[in-house]
Amino acid sequence: MKQRLVIGNWKMNGDQQTNEMLLKDLLVGMTNGGNLEVAICPPFPYLASIATQLQGRTVGLGAQNLSPATHGAFTGEVSASMLRDIGCRYVLVGHSERRALFGDTDDVVAQKFAAAIAQELVPVLCVGETMDERRAGITTSVMTKQITTVIKHVGIENLARGVVAYEPVWAIGTGETASPDQAQAVHRHLREVIGAFDERIARNLQIIYGGSLKPDNAQALFTQPDIDGGLVGGASLDPASFIAICDAITTTPRGTA
Ligand code: 13P
Repeated sequence: MKQRLVIGNWKMNGDQQTNEMLLKDLLVGMTNGGNLEVAICPPFPYLASIATQLQGRTVGLGAQNLSPATHGAFTGEVSASMLRDIGCRYVLVGHSERRALFGDTDDVVAQKFAAAIAQELVPVLCVGETMDERRAGITTSVMTKQITTVIKHVGIENLARGVVAYEPVWAIGTGETASPDQAQAVHRHLREVIGAFDERIARNLQIIYGGSLKPDNAQALFTQPDIDGGLVGGASLDPASFIAICDAITTTPRGTA
């Protein structure tokens, strides 16, 4: 059966002391029962030491961004091979904050996805529409463009080596969550777009939901047939909430389409 996945995106939060407490509480409380994979994405400076602390544990490690380039004169950038070198398994690409604030266009996102694949990292491709786009009724065409730009750049077989995260921009950090029906509809649409390239890949690809995911809305979202897990921002900084979200997925039977 397809594995489910919950990733905590810590964004630009924390310090050595708070990270240590967060990690300790997570590792004590995390049961990782059932068919669930869990990972955390701390900020760059803390990745290497957290990688050491996670050795032999079931919680995986990811980064929040990477350079599309392999190496060289790119001051301030971090390459896929560096992330792999220190023990990352995942890397977020195309998070809406990167798209909105740091100029990550669909093409740049596709290049970053390719750079991750080349180093055998698992890229987590974030896609999502703004509230204006939703109101204008163009959510599905925005999703189609964001996903097909990557497929055309890396090929469908390489898309299958990553994960897709649907994060409606209007639901990120706002406390406003997509309803289970809204999220399911977009996840289904993404699977249909991918299915036009390869149906088997569309069925098997993990597509996870992010955007104000909390313990009290997790179960309703995770019962949806096309939602394979969660990408958690704010609630991943609170160990009890993050663990409760992970528990919600392990106790929620997968919905049927
Ligand atoms: P919040 O859970 O804080 O809304 O953030 C979601 C997110 O952006 C995860 O990548």
